[in-house]
Amino acid sequence: MRTPIPIVAITPATLADAAARLRRGELVAIPTETVYGLGAHALDAQAIARIYEAKSRPAWNPLIVHVADVAAAQALVADWPERASLLASAFWPGPLTLVLKKADHVPDIVTAGAATIALRIPAHEGTLALLRTSGLPIAAPSANRFTELSPTTAQHVADGLGDRVGLILDGGPCAVGVESTVVDLTTEQPVVLRPGHITPDQIAQVLGEPVRKRSPYAAADSGTTPHASPGLSARHYAPATPVWLVSETDVPEVARSLSSDAAPQRFALLALEGGLALPGAQAARRLPRDPVLYARGLYAALHELDEAQCDVLIVERPPDEPLWDAVNDRLLRSTRESD
Ligand code: TXA
Ligand code: MG
Repeated sequence: MRTPIPIVAITPATLADAAARLRRGELVAIPTETVYGLGAHALDAQAIARIYEAKSRPAWNPLIVHVADVAAAQALVADWPERASLLASAFWPGPLTLVLKKADHVPDIVTAGAATIALRIPAHEGTLALLRTSGLPIAAPSANRFTELSPTTAQHVADGLGDRVGLILDGGPCAVGVESTVVDLTTEQPVVLRPGHITPDQIAQVLGEPVRKRSPYAAADSGTTPHASPGLSARHYAPATPVWLVSETDVPEVARSLSSDAAPQRFALLALEGGLALPGAQAARRLPRDPVLYARGLYAALHELDEAQCDVLIVERPPDEPLWDAVNDRLLRSTRESD
């Protein structure tokens, strides 16, 4: 029988337990405002190895290190540029990850051998309390198996990782719902490697200079070491059900042909609010026509629709506009066709 996974509320006692586990090199799942992370002591190479093992994550894929404050971030880098100060004061704690030159004492396994390190202060009181009480930097990728859907509740973590994690701190559903924006500050011009809640325009405004956007759809998964941004692996964030991204106008036709085939296929539908009623779907969810609210509900909706175990999951394509970049990026990567 499988051991039940301890999902615990955040209290002084569970924080002390979590901190002790991290110090012993064990894994602890932590809530953040973006998605749940699978945390380990960032300076303990053996603990980091356990993250890769638990996630079945390939070794070329570096981790994000979470810290309590700017001083803790500065302790992990070789160089803290003015741009980092500007972005940290504008957006930290928050869903922005900065890529900087790493300090020598950061184990190579954290950064997958890269000379750079990804850092952020998460905006979640429970995890900030853990960072403060433990005094440790916590490396944490999203708490899901490699290529699978990211978790936005403690239960998603338990469902996805089973007994691969000894403790899950339950901090409620994630407020942002998609992974942090990743911006590389080691290049001549800052480059947004992964789109998220904080947009390139917001970053450019704070920096007072243009920011390059690595095309969210230019997925490169060709095995160069290390990847510029693992979140850009073509197949990532994928439910088990094959996902079809279908334009709003084509949804009725696609749904009709799926259900009227000689061998009808069962489909689930993720639609935008206010669209057509669609009979025939085995399971359906609607998300708001607002990119922030849509992002907040996205992974929970995909987890839920995936559980209906249909043949196809039809996702009505959201608007192709910059404010939808983070959502469209994750949706595109959830389609198996892009593999
Ligand atoms: O919101 C988030 O960022 C969540 C929570 C838990 O904080 N974490 C997360 O981690 O999404 P993960 O491991 O699933 O995604 C890792 C991302 C990659 O997509 C990549 O962009 C970035 O971290 N990354 C890490 N180290 C990097 C490096 N040295 N250079 C460039 N990108 C790096
Ligand atoms: Mg991830």
